[in-house]
Amino acid sequence: MEECLSLFPVFEERGRRMLSTKMKASDRQVKALFPIVLASFLVVSTSRLFTEQLRIGRSRVSILLGNPDHGFRMVVPPEDRIKDGCNVFQGRWVQDNSSYPLYKEESCPYLVKQVTCLKNGRPDSLYQNWRWQPDGCGLPRFDPRMMLEMIRGKRLMFVGDSIQRAQFDSMVCLVQSAIPQGRKSMQRIPPRKIFTIKDYNASIEYYWAPFIVQSISDHATNHTVHKRLVKLDSIANHSKYWQGVDLLVFESYIWWMYKPQVNATYGSENKIKEYNVTVAYKLALETWAKWLDSNIDPNKQKVFFMSMSPTHLWSWEWKPGTEGNCFNESQPIKEPYWGTGSNLEIMKIVEDILQQLKVNVTFMNITQMSEFRKDAHTSVFTERKGKLLTKEQKSNPKEYADCIHWCLPGLPDAWNEILYAYLLKNQPTIS
Ligand SMILES: *[C@@H]1O[C@H](CO)[C@@H](O)[C@H](O)[C@H]1NC(C)=O
Ligand SMILES: *[C@@H]1O[C@H](CO)[C@@H](O)[C@H](O)[C@H]1NC(C)=O
Ligand SMILES: *[C@@H]1O[C@H](CO)[C@@H](O)[C@H](O)[C@H]1NC(C)=O
Ligand SMILES: *[C@@H]1O[C@H](CO)[C@@H](O)[C@H](O)[C@H]1NC(C)=O
Ligand SMILES: *[C@@H]1O[C@H](CO)[C@@H](O)[C@H](O)[C@H]1NC(C)=O
Ligand SMILES: *[C@@H]1O[C@H](CO)[C@@H](O)[C@H](O)[C@H]1NC(C)=O
Ligand SMILES: *[C@@H]1O[C@H](CO)[C@@H](O)[C@H](O)[C@H]1NC(C)=O
Ligand SMILES: *[C@@H]1O[C@H](CO)[C@@H](O)[C@H](O)[C@H]1NC(C)=O
Ligand SMILES: *[C@@H]1O[C@H](CO)[C@@H](O)[C@H](O)[C@H]1NC(C)=O
Repeated sequence: MEECLSLFPVFEERGRRMLSTKMKASDRQVKALFPIVLASFLVVSTSRLFTEQLRIGRSRVSILLGNPDHGFRMVVPPEDRIKDGCNVFQGRWVQDNSSYPLYKEESCPYLVKQVTCLKNGRPDSLYQNWRWQPDGCGLPRFDPRMMLEMIRGKRLMFVGDSIQRAQFDSMVCLVQSAIPQGRKSMQRIPPRKIFTIKDYNASIEYYWAPFIVQSISDHATNHTVHKRLVKLDSIANHSKYWQGVDLLVFESYIWWMYKPQVNATYGSENKIKEYNVTVAYKLALETWAKWLDSNIDPNKQKVFFMSMSPTHLWSWEWKPGTEGNCFNESQPIKEPYWGTGSNLEIMKIVEDILQQLKVNVTFMNITQMSEFRKDAHTSVFTERKGKLLTKEQKSNPKEYADCIHWCLPGLPDAWNEILYAYLLKNQPTIS
């Protein structure tokens, strides 16, 4: 807690700096970099169906008791429940070459080429070998079969933009090795992707909604961040797909941040106005909150909200005097660090809205833990408009490095380990 408080001046100072350098930053640099981002956003992964060998997991079978045909009885050892009051988002990255990564790039057939950095030529792999260690407690080890057990007969859905899609991909990769060949399938039904686990009557799903509320960017593949028009008070066309979903994980940030203003409507669909992004974001989340409060059954459903995923677009922020970005970064940042890309006003808006909600929403405050990870972005080892970067493009990281998205396996796995920990914590105690 103390350490947390001592960080605040850092945030505030960065925040002020952000305001004072806003024009420079947004005009000179954001503009130069967004076309790349945009390209990444443009392509929704094609679902490829591959056969896959069953890998023997490291599952702790002993805690799953009973007959697999009728469901296991789950017994969660007390040490696997995160302690009450422990802030699992405050901690540090510890190198762990023996247990990480939790899966291999080549063992997960569902990974899209946007994220397979090693296959795309990344020379270093240490970014895969870090374990998140909260200061105040331990995190349980991710057990694929336990995860599947927790979603038996349920739907787990990730809603948001391409950052969220990677978290979906990560979750699928984390569990899929524990499912035999032929008992799992991936369907692409835009704007959804659905991973079905037959023997568990369960699904892990993804729903494209970059602003959560409705917008002209809702087409799963044909959209551009250059043209944004958000309907701040409309959500029904999306939310009808979220109805009754047992576990919902929301995220929305980067699409808002393209410019300080965004075109939007509220009320009349014909009255288009430029809104300050913070104002628009608040209105959109209020629309979302209203939907939650009148549609979520807290006895049956659980809701999570992911905080903003940070970017590492400007190396002068962590290495003063340099002019680069996340390219060629192979180590996490060691000191507490908060980049100007992570807007604290937005953070506050989310906090306020979640506090006003009647239903409980678990806020997954992954921003700080991810800020450390300047080494974990896809950088130039990714694709653009569906094609891997060429040699020439790779040699021009200033223009082509993607410092917004993350390699897999990688950081999004850690977000899912925490999601797993929360789900585990909420399992009823069985005597
Ligand atoms: C992990 O592996 C890397 C490179 O292979 C090595 O430099 C590092 O010392 C190892 N870390 C630990 C904790 O063993
Ligand atoms: C399968 O799961 C769905 C909800 O995801 C539920 O409505 C249905 O009853 C389940 N079927 C069985 C056989 O458990
Ligand atoms: C994409 O959408 C725009 C307008 O929303 C339309 O004019 C264009 O034809 C679409 N492109 C494709 C490839 O569908
Ligand atoms: C929303 O749904 C309604 C009714 O299904 C439809 O008429 C309308 O075009 C949809 N709006 C958008 C933006 O997709
Ligand atoms: C809003 O739309 C108008 C008209 O299309 C456009 O000129 C303006 O740049 C847009 N504003 C933003 C912030 O995108
Ligand atoms: C929008 O932002 C600008 C600059 O940050 C500020 O001066 C202005 O008052 C804001 N407008 C509203 C309606 O909040
Ligand atoms: C990457 O950084 C290392 C030093 O950390 C440097 O020696 C190397 O030249 C850099 N590579 C490129 C392609 O910039
Ligand atoms: C999220 O964590 C950061 C520090 O890591 C903190 O500044 C911020 O207030 C937290 N947000 C909420 C809503 O708790
Ligand atoms: C919300 O969560 C808190 C803490 O986890 C708990 O004390 C409270 O009872 C929950 N409220 C509802 C309505 O479930």
